[in-house]
Amino acid sequence: MTGQTEKEMTQALKAKFEELFGPLDGVESGRIYFAPGRVNLIGEHTDYNGGHVFPVAITIGTYAVARTRNDRKLRFYSMNFPDAGVVETSLDELAEGAQGSWTDYPKGVIYTFINHGFDVDLGLDMVVYGNIPAGSGLSSSASLEVLTGFILRDIFDFDVDYITLALIGQDSENNYNGMNCGIMDQFAVAMGRPGQAIFLDTNDLSYEYVPVKLDGAKLIIANTNKKHKLTDSAYNDRRRECEQALIELQSAVGPVLPSGHIFDQLGDLTREEFEQYKDSIKEPVIRRRAKHAVYENQRTIEAVRVLKAGDIERFGELMKEAHISVSQDYEVTGPELDTLAEEAWKIPGCLGSRMTGGGFGGCTVSIVKDEAIPEFIEKVGAAYKEKIGWEADFYIVEIGGGPRVVEAI
Ligand code: GLA
Repeated sequence: MTGQTEKEMTQALKAKFEELFGPLDGVESGRIYFAPGRVNLIGEHTDYNGGHVFPVAITIGTYAVARTRNDRKLRFYSMNFPDAGVVETSLDELAEGAQGSWTDYPKGVIYTFINHGFDVDLGLDMVVYGNIPAGSGLSSSASLEVLTGFILRDIFDFDVDYITLALIGQDSENNYNGMNCGIMDQFAVAMGRPGQAIFLDTNDLSYEYVPVKLDGAKLIIANTNKKHKLTDSAYNDRRRECEQALIELQSAVGPVLPSGHIFDQLGDLTREEFEQYKDSIKEPVIRRRAKHAVYENQRTIEAVRVLKAGDIERFGELMKEAHISVSQDYEVTGPELDTLAEEAWKIPGCLGSRMTGGGFGGCTVSIVKDEAIPEFIEKVGAAYKEKIGWEADFYIVEIGGGPRVVEAI
């Protein structure tokens, strides 16, 4: 994180835009936009299995100044990647696909809008500045995708709702950037609300806002500072493993469960149904992947129920169970995330802790009682440094809203 306030960031952004692309006053003025990052509280690797997730949008995210041009050129600059310089392309060159640059995210979204039939007929100048640590698993890419969609919606006056912005972001990430993510990140970014988590059923996109009332405790993010890139990681492999498990289960069960429910995703199974049919999955590794998908979905449903009932302690226990499941059955953690979670569990004032996001690096999220926060940061931080060899970073999570226009310039 930059540690700068919104005002400082947007002033720096405006100054950079004017330096690169000329003054912002006048009729053809640009605007400043923001889209948040996200933290998932529970329900990991369930969103591509038709299961439930429970993320929040956070107050850190991505800012941009954007202005239309009167030709078809696109010019991008990121204050987070100054070495990339001004990247220039045009609406007619988008079909060339991802080029391995940060600009693949905004380009992918513009391309996807056009593919969905939106008439993007003028180019853009856009300068971006974010305060989500890159590679932290807090969805800096979904933030940039939804931000770009929100900018297009605003500038071209497109009639597109926020769920569609999320779906276009996901489409672009899947098909332009080659990362087969589910819908959770873009949905959380597009639909976030201050103080509330989103209980989303990824099977049909039905959702409910749930207030996060932690009664004398706070959500703390701990960043492993291990850089990861999900396309390079085993994320897409996990998706394939779940698909294989589903095929094997379906060949044993058929398309309809004895309960009468349609069976077309792992998220359709209860724990009991899984236990009954799991032996039809031949390879033990694939069986463990499927077990995580089924149990994590049921755990998420329970977690939301207990949170609504005010039982934060039980919610915390479920977070711990969720971490053990992604660590042992799904195997997407690694020593850095495991150390942060295991050291967190040892602190008496920590009610729960687990990795959040795709895994393989990135962050944990913990619920820590107010009075225990200094001890938590000190002890978990020291043990992490000792075992892993470099520092972790800690931030208090503030649950924020979705995309917005920050200020008309
Ligand atoms: C990444 C993906 C999401 C989701 C999580 C794991 O963040 O982008 O769609 O699958 O991993 O829960």
